[in-house]
Amino acid sequence: MAHKLWDKGKPVHTDIEKFTVGKDQEMDLFLAKADVLGSIAHITMLESVGLLTKEELTTLLAELRNIYSVVEKGEFIIEEGVEDVHSQVELMLTRKVGDAGKKIHSGRSRNDQVLLDLKLYTRSRIYDLAQATNKLFSVLSAQSEQYKKVLMPGYTHLQVAMPSSFGLWFGAYAESLTDDMQQLLAGWKICNRNPLGSAAGYGSSFPLNRQLTTDLLGFDGMNHNVVYAQMGRGKMERSVSYALASLAGTISKLAYDACLFSSQNFGFLQLADEYTTGSSIMPHKKNPDVFELTRAKCNKIQALPNDILLITNNLPSGYFRDLQLVKEIFIPAFDELLDCINMTTQMMQKVKINEQILNDSKYDLIFSVEEVNRLTLEGVPFRDAYKQVGEAIESGNFTPNKDIKHTHEGSIGKLCNKEITALMNGILSEFSFEKAFSAEEKLVNTK
Ligand code: ARG
Repeated sequence: MAHKLWDKGKPVHTDIEKFTVGKDQEMDLFLAKADVLGSIAHITMLESVGLLTKEELTTLLAELRNIYSVVEKGEFIIEEGVEDVHSQVELMLTRKVGDAGKKIHSGRSRNDQVLLDLKLYTRSRIYDLAQATNKLFSVLSAQSEQYKKVLMPGYTHLQVAMPSSFGLWFGAYAESLTDDMQQLLAGWKICNRNPLGSAAGYGSSFPLNRQLTTDLLGFDGMNHNVVYAQMGRGKMERSVSYALASLAGTISKLAYDACLFSSQNFGFLQLADEYTTGSSIMPHKKNPDVFELTRAKCNKIQALPNDILLITNNLPSGYFRDLQLVKEIFIPAFDELLDCINMTTQMMQKVKINEQILNDSKYDLIFSVEEVNRLTLEGVPFRDAYKQVGEAIESGNFTPNKDIKHTHEGSIGKLCNKEITALMNGILSEFSFEKAFSAEEKLVNTK
């Protein structure tokens, strides 16, 4: 017989039970830490408004902190027949402390409990992503600086076009990450508001102190309106998934460039042997599988906002079981993206670049515009200079001058890497990580 918080003595058909529980026993394991933290904050507040005695609070806190350490050790499980993490934690509590355990759910519903769990979980994953992204950013910036003098062809329509450089190429992806970080910050701000106290979605007649739980959990503030707090389910995940998609877009483009540029036909980049894979038939192959998988995984992640939208769209206000399914696509996306970011960081650190690309005469024409500009600076009207150089090219008389001078902001000669790093650091300083995580730390560590 299954354990259910809502059991009223009438059995539910086992097929229905299996279908409705779905993947919760697997997914909710990711929420266990958050669930315990949320309960600690909730009962601390219940005691402060007279719904628990001091003794009950002390007993419950000790046991919840026990459960927290079980989770930390990786030993927390959702037992056979237990519906979800919320039921499991309450079951463990009541087993240990008896009646006091049954009091913790006053003024709370699994609806606001799961809302809160998802937010606490997401806060910690946003932190992981911000760290990993910043690491990739540092590697790309460093490579950009190191190779700022090494030229490569730039393309439009995949036809050789203008001089570019490895400084520009690495640095472009670094700057792209600053915009992705901006999106992540927006996700953080939307996530970092306390929904607890909205209960089933309409609040409670208990005199809850929502400001207290907001402070205890280190949130920036609360979702004030209880109906809106519940409407945030799915919306928060979608908002954060835009940031995941944005990061994935940067990385998938980088992965494509890396595949293309490491092909023999380009030969701009070389991946270290240990970062390539072989072929079962062709003895010479060194394939960029890592970048191919990264590209595909990141393309998948770019569909996440849409996938969440399709699950949550056309729902009226209020809780619906539909929302449970968002967990299944949202939660695994973090590890998948982190994997891709970390692999890309490693690959970009070890990549070798070809410093002699432009010795090949097939790239000579990328200097045509330099010549037009040189003539223009000497006083020839631009259109005439353009014509003159065009005729020289057609008649085979064009000789490139490879000593180029690009001086404006963001160009080959002035990458502005310092400015880009300052931008990144400014965005990073706006995340209220310290406040959030020191509050959590306090909840599990103080007596
Ligand atoms: N597993 C559920 C979910 O993720 C928990 C909330 C259940 N609430 C309910 N009213 N059935 O949405």
